[in-house]
Amino acid sequence: MAYCRLARSRDRRDLEVIRLSATAASTGAATGPRLTGKRVLVTGGAGFIGSHLVERIARERPSGLVVVDNLFLGREENLATARRLYPGLTVHRQDATDYDAMTAILSAERTEVVFNLAIVPLPTSLTNPRWTMDHNVALATVACELLRQRYYQTLIHFSSSEAYGSASYVPMDERHPPNPSTPYAASKLAGDHAVLAYRETYGIDAAIIRPFNNYGPRQNAGAYAGVIPIVVGRAIRGEEIEIFGDGEQTRDFIFVRDTAEAAVRIYETTESRGLVINVGSGRETTINALVGALVAALGVEATVVHAEARLGDVRRHCAAMERANSILQFAPGTSLSDGLRETVEWYRESLGQAT
Ligand SMILES: NC(=O)c1ccc[n+]([C@@H]2O[C@H](COP(=O)([O-])OP(=O)(O)OC[C@H]3O[C@@H](n4cnc5c(N)ncnc54)[C@H](O)[C@@H]3O)[C@@H](O)[C@H]2O)c1
Repeated sequence: MAYCRLARSRDRRDLEVIRLSATAASTGAATGPRLTGKRVLVTGGAGFIGSHLVERIARERPSGLVVVDNLFLGREENLATARRLYPGLTVHRQDATDYDAMTAILSAERTEVVFNLAIVPLPTSLTNPRWTMDHNVALATVACELLRQRYYQTLIHFSSSEAYGSASYVPMDERHPPNPSTPYAASKLAGDHAVLAYRETYGIDAAIIRPFNNYGPRQNAGAYAGVIPIVVGRAIRGEEIEIFGDGEQTRDFIFVRDTAEAAVRIYETTESRGLVINVGSGRETTINALVGALVAALGVEATVVHAEARLGDVRRHCAAMERANSILQFAPGTSLSDGLRETVEWYRESLGQAT
């Protein structure tokens, strides 16, 4: 029986654990279609998760691999490894909400499968709520309409655990009531509803992956950074680390390559169609504990200060993974300590501070 438990220890060097599932690793073989030989397009492929997903797909030897990204936050450099793995990779610098431009790309590339990751992130939604929401909903509806019009055959759409809002119970299964607390979260939920409505009305071949908090190499360390790149950057530069609120808010952290694996499995498993599938670790970690673990992994002294809580910050998150376990035979293979170690090493190197 899976469960989540939030340990109360304030020892920052101790990850606040939370053990949960009997399934310890990705097992299981695909039962549905394969990406091998398919023509695949990834929107937002130059971003954080997208670039790892492109690498994972490249390993399946598709017959075409295309990225559509307007480089709002994504970077060409993120695709360096993908290009080595798949020299024929095509990158279109293009806004994926432009329906006509997308019809042209999908037709020219003879795309069969779309992984839809493009998004404007949560922090932008706090300062530009209307624009972010309009944009993010359009990213979902354009992908749905293109599928309805048969410009391609299968959509794997990326949702977000933010759609749930704060947990009213943990672990949060896919039936947990959605209660988005930011414009970003609302736009993600609206996108999911669009995909499910198109599925219901027109029978489109689509499934939704709902990842929890991803971390790993290449997470954007710029203005719209997630907590890990910000903390690592500040710690390496010897600056104070700022935690929003009391730091006892929790998240479920999953290593980015595990999410990429789950996305491929969702495509390969026809039972996923029409479903939302959580992808997390099933473990709950406080931000205080995460910062402690990062500082320990970096081997630096750091001063932590607490700032005012962020607008709409979710209080508690933890994924129930039964659906992913049973339908995809998937459970993440990377422990938080191993994933953080690799992440910290990557930031050290990319910040030119490898020791
Ligand atoms: N990072 C996480 O922890 C997390 C958690 C849950 C869900 N997700 C979802 O996973 C997906 C990828 O997230 P990420 O963290 O890699 O974000 P990211 O910002 O790194 O990547 C998003 C990419 O989309 C591109 N983009 C934005 N608007 C675009 C447009 N109109 N047309 C084309 N490209 C556009 C950006 O340039 C960027 O490369 C998103 O759908 C996000 O909601 C992310």
